[in-house]
Amino acid sequence: MKFNTMTILGTQWGDEGKGKVVHFLSRDADYIVRYQGGNNAGHTIVINGSEHILHLIPSGILERKRCVIGNGVVVDPAALYDEVALLRRKRFDVRGRLFISERAHVILPYHKFLDAVKESSQKIGTTQKGIGPCYGDKYSRSGIRMCDYLERDTFAELIDRNLAEKGPVIERFGDLAALRRRMLAERDRYARFLQPFVCDTTRLLIGAIEQGKKVIFESAQGTLLDVDFGTYPYVTSSNPITGGVSVGTGVPPWYIAKTVGIVKAYTTRVGEGPFPTELASPLQEQLREAGREFGATTGRPRRCGWFDAVVVRHSIRVNGITELVLTKLDCLRGISPLKLCVAYRYGSHTTLTDFPASRKVQRTVQPVYIETPGFTEQIRGITRYRDLPASIKRYITLIEKHCGARITVISLGRDRNETIFK
Ligand code: IMO
Ligand code: MG
Repeated sequence: MKFNTMTILGTQWGDEGKGKVVHFLSRDADYIVRYQGGNNAGHTIVINGSEHILHLIPSGILERKRCVIGNGVVVDPAALYDEVALLRRKRFDVRGRLFISERAHVILPYHKFLDAVKESSQKIGTTQKGIGPCYGDKYSRSGIRMCDYLERDTFAELIDRNLAEKGPVIERFGDLAALRRRMLAERDRYARFLQPFVCDTTRLLIGAIEQGKKVIFESAQGTLLDVDFGTYPYVTSSNPITGGVSVGTGVPPWYIAKTVGIVKAYTTRVGEGPFPTELASPLQEQLREAGREFGATTGRPRRCGWFDAVVVRHSIRVNGITELVLTKLDCLRGISPLKLCVAYRYGSHTTLTDFPASRKVQRTVQPVYIETPGFTEQIRGITRYRDLPASIKRYITLIEKHCGARITVISLGRDRNETIFK
């Protein structure tokens, strides 16, 4: 049986434009599902000129679809509450359309403290949302899940144990007894809010998929931020790769029919860590301004660089991607020539065509570039592939050739109708 399911994920270091793509591909979907990450994500969607930024709720909520937050997601109740309140003010009601896994882990205030503590000794440039420490607790079996959070006595027992364990570190941030009181009081308030949404999302999704419903799994972050396949340790603490879908939702791997990779026409990364094709100024600034490359979650300027086919080939391989969606092509206007990295040089004798695992190698490789002419024409507004300037078509063909996958959709602007189906 062929299921009507797909994963949509980022092939670089996040911020590839997943929000827009998921939003327009979700038009005929029944369910949109987040399977990992938390409110470290920032997905910007523009509808009729107005901008919406989502951090935790799947982008399909704006299409009034059913949205699921899977067990692999880490949920900060306060952040979710604020997001739901914001959506309500914009007249997007989530009632009856939002489902949160009872097994999803909860981000608590001490996770955010610990994120800051960790950052002072190991600079990763995290979003400071408590993501890493929450996943840390999950895997070290100290985590508190949604179902535990909803039971007041279970929650009280678990935070007492966790505060005793973490006390010596988090005491530096203030009075533990006050923190305990605050967490209990907040729980009472947020539990009432969360209760109607929390359920067995695995059963819900498997049932829907078996009935032939269209289900889209939406990643946060990107493959190079994957804790296993990214630039470790400069990664996030979850698995954005398509393998993460099964773990993060309980849906069997063979229920996922295909994986679509989102690829930005150049490369960005926010936070610390290796970035072989990073540009020098002033081209870096030019691209940042053109692409509005400032973090949707933290406001930080994103680092910008040339397209890196080594990175994207790595993503295509570990995700089994069969088609790519190319985004933000319009932002390259006025830059000529355009460069694409097709391999890395390591030392004076070695050429690498696969993305290396070693942090030392990642840090020191030199990109091998090919060049192609840029374009100066205004391409926003073009809706047919054949109307694109020849130099752009050449750039697109080079990306396809060096990545080894077809580009089926091209995005030329933030609005949904600024899209070409190739
Ligand atoms: P979306 O979904 C880009 C980065 C952070 C940092 C690293 C670890 O919008 O693409 P964390 O707070 O997750 O522990 O930080 O991961 N990072 C992202 N970079 N886009 C994101 O999400 C990101 N989420 C986390 O900057 O380098
Ligand atoms: Mg983002």
